[in-house]
Amino acid sequence: MSGQTETKRLTAPDIRARKGGLPIVSLTSYHAHTAALLDRHCDVILVGDSLGMVMHGLESTIPVTLDMMILQGKAVMRGSKHALVVVDMPFGSYEASKEQAFMSAARVMKETGCGAIKMEGGTRMAETIAFLAERGIPVMGHVGLTPQAINALGGFRTQGRDEADWEPIEADARAVAASGAFAMVIEAVAEPLAAKITRNIAIPTIGIGASPVCDGQILVLEDMLGLSPRAPKFVKRYTDLGPSIDQAVAAYAAEVRSRAFPAADHTYTMKAKTPAKR
Ligand code: KIV
Repeated sequence: MSGQTETKRLTAPDIRARKGGLPIVSLTSYHAHTAALLDRHCDVILVGDSLGMVMHGLESTIPVTLDMMILQGKAVMRGSKHALVVVDMPFGSYEASKEQAFMSAARVMKETGCGAIKMEGGTRMAETIAFLAERGIPVMGHVGLTPQAINALGGFRTQGRDEADWEPIEADARAVAASGAFAMVIEAVAEPLAAKITRNIAIPTIGIGASPVCDGQILVLEDMLGLSPRAPKFVKRYTDLGPSIDQAVAAYAAEVRSRAFPAADHTYTMKAKTPAKR
């Protein structure tokens, strides 16, 4: 029985129950192999629509499609066993109506097997979140800086640094919590506002650039590994894989050109011939 408990995958209610408790550890992943590495340490793995920029070199998340999210969501589910996998709803797949959101989210859940979806937006998405939650789809909200609204916001800007701007962001957080979301990402929000929201809502807040006061933290994996050419101020680089990869690839290129690679260890030989019987 204990083996079964160890491998049981976390669920949205498990994460919901962590409000005010041990901080929730989350990272993004889009691949089976990184998901397997993260799975040993993370409570939540987010298949974020940041994959548009990180994997595909797009300028923003706007062009990301449902098919792209589903393909990477399946890979992350294959690679992980323990963490709750949350798949982001891409721009244009859920905003038109609650019915559109349900159809898109149901497709994501059926085809990937993930445990929850995430959608950006506060007050304007509350009715949709309630519609999905009532129909068995666990929803993680996302307020503060919402990258899918980049064209309306005019850029990636920290939110709530002026107290006069707090009320709509607080209202968004209250609406998401009241509509039945099990947790919410708060992105790029000044610490006192993140603290006020975290204190005043009943569901866990997962911060990205929202200070240590949140109930959990999330980062884009490639940002914290030092693989992204640029990263926002809130990212801590825990390692710097970019130069290591550069060195490894340079060594490989030199050895291929000098024929030092492949060496005997990496080369197949013929089977030893058995002497013919007399
Ligand atoms: O798409 C993403 O990676 C996200 C995180 C930054 C929270 O939404």
